[in-house]
Amino acid sequence: MKKWMERLTQGMSDAFERAGYDRGYGKVALSNRPDLCEYQCNGAMAGAKAYKKAPVQIAGDVVEKLQGSPVFSMAEAVGPGFINLKVNPEFLVSFLKEMAADEHLSVEKAQEPKTILIDYGGPNVAKPLHVGHLRSAIIGESMKRLGRFLGHKVIGDVHLGDWGLQMGLIITELKHRSPDLVYFQEGFEGPYPQEAPFTIGELEEIYPAASARSKEDEAYKEEAMEATHLLQQGKPGYHALWNHILQVSMADLKKNYERLQVTFDLWKKESDAQPYIPDMVEYLKEKGYAHLDQGALVVDVKEEGDAKEIPPCMILKSDGASLYNTTDLATIVERMKLFHPDEILYVVDKRQELYFTQVFRCARKTHLVEEGTQLSFLGFGTMNGKDGKPFKTRQGGVMRLEELMNDICEEMYQKIVDNRSVKAENARETAQIVGLSAIKYGDLSNQATKDYVFDTDRFTSFEGDTGPYLLYTIVRIKSILNRYQEEGGDLRQGSLQVPACESEKALMLELTNFAAAVESAFEEKVPHKVCSYLYGLANAFNRFYHETKILSEEDQAQKSSWIQLLSLTRQTLEVSIDLLGFSAPERM
Ligand code: ARG
Repeated sequence: MKKWMERLTQGMSDAFERAGYDRGYGKVALSNRPDLCEYQCNGAMAGAKAYKKAPVQIAGDVVEKLQGSPVFSMAEAVGPGFINLKVNPEFLVSFLKEMAADEHLSVEKAQEPKTILIDYGGPNVAKPLHVGHLRSAIIGESMKRLGRFLGHKVIGDVHLGDWGLQMGLIITELKHRSPDLVYFQEGFEGPYPQEAPFTIGELEEIYPAASARSKEDEAYKEEAMEATHLLQQGKPGYHALWNHILQVSMADLKKNYERLQVTFDLWKKESDAQPYIPDMVEYLKEKGYAHLDQGALVVDVKEEGDAKEIPPCMILKSDGASLYNTTDLATIVERMKLFHPDEILYVVDKRQELYFTQVFRCARKTHLVEEGTQLSFLGFGTMNGKDGKPFKTRQGGVMRLEELMNDICEEMYQKIVDNRSVKAENARETAQIVGLSAIKYGDLSNQATKDYVFDTDRFTSFEGDTGPYLLYTIVRIKSILNRYQEEGGDLRQGSLQVPACESEKALMLELTNFAAAVESAFEEKVPHKVCSYLYGLANAFNRFYHETKILSEEDQAQKSSWIQLLSLTRQTLEVSIDLLGFSAPERM
């Protein structure tokens, strides 16, 4: 099925051809002057040189051939040589009928589906899930859904941070607090207890305490580093503790992600890459890719033409310990082996961009990644508070994700209760659904690479470019459709008619852009394009709605046509918000 813009371009190209010009000049684009026309074609300007003619003459020739066109109801040559266009309502309606009949809403599935592994979420075990990790989860989840909708095989991996110093810190702190635990007894022969010696609540207190102490107490820090090292060497008591930390933490993370409606196919962790490290290091040495630099094993990754110095990628520290880089490279080896992805996409804080440049170059240069596999980085900016600084709690502490969600849902709950449109017993549940839309849309509607201000008042508003506004629009349509059915109407009956007014045509035209919005959002890795599409569509619908008395319309054919249009609008809105990772309630 050809895309909407392609169909318009085809109609235009035919006219160029019939007027004796090259088809290639027939490209149609959205109008720069929506007050004058819906679309425009600038091909006559482009062709002027080749044909040694004034552009307006070419435009005039083409426009002549568009008289009676099934595609355009208006075509006008204007100085200095643009062609202004309005689309034929019949043509528009027949496209929308096809779209409505297709459960995929006329979005084509990829002809050559790719296997894409998305590395997102990236929380660190034992540290509470804080807002710093929110963006990765939200953006990554949306990229995953977009990719799947377009027919790709997408694998989401949470890639837990479970192998760093935070583990040694917790072990050390536990040892100081409870030195008698069996985990610290030399010569203990096991088995170690099944139950963890701490709860998630305790764990969340232990980590910050240990981290704070390590900053003041050098000996303590040394101890934690040593514990990390021993854990990585496989010391049984520490390994057992690590396992407890992992289990307790993961249960909590799963709960949080579930609430965010973020799901991962893989719950892999940094430590899963460890078995690949020795062979990888051996390979890098043997092939001569890596060399020693002040005792550390490094791979040079700078390239000619670098504007700034790209430092070498460090593979092993001088004491032989592995690093974040080592794990990431070994994870690439593992992913290649297990999944042979066509692409690995990392959705990570943009402050790690240089780091990923090093890792990608290193993997490429050393052929750890196959030629045909693309490594890409979607770096996102910081979520700031209204003061322009990274988002904090009111007390100035690190904001836990759970806390943020509770705050927003409470805010939504108040608004919903004030609205009195939802039964009291359903208000809490509705507040969760709407609250999630406020958070996710607030994030996604900003260009991912930029920092943005998390503005609770604005994000939870029912008006403006917000999640709740979109849900409100969907709920409004649902309620009209429900009433129509209650009055005996059948949603499957009736057929779309040509638009009866300007605002109806504008809504129809918005609908045609769905496929293009979804495709470019995915290909350019910019989910905010789905957001702008949605906002435009919701606005177009609301304008039409305010001008049209739908349910009291006497002409049954007209009424059922509008119902068809509403159904399609609703479906398009619902599919779109699903691609962003949230859903709509029945009422609000
Ligand atoms: N855990 C890391 C952090 O908190 C993010 C992990 C990103 N993914 C990766 N493969 N390095 O910064």
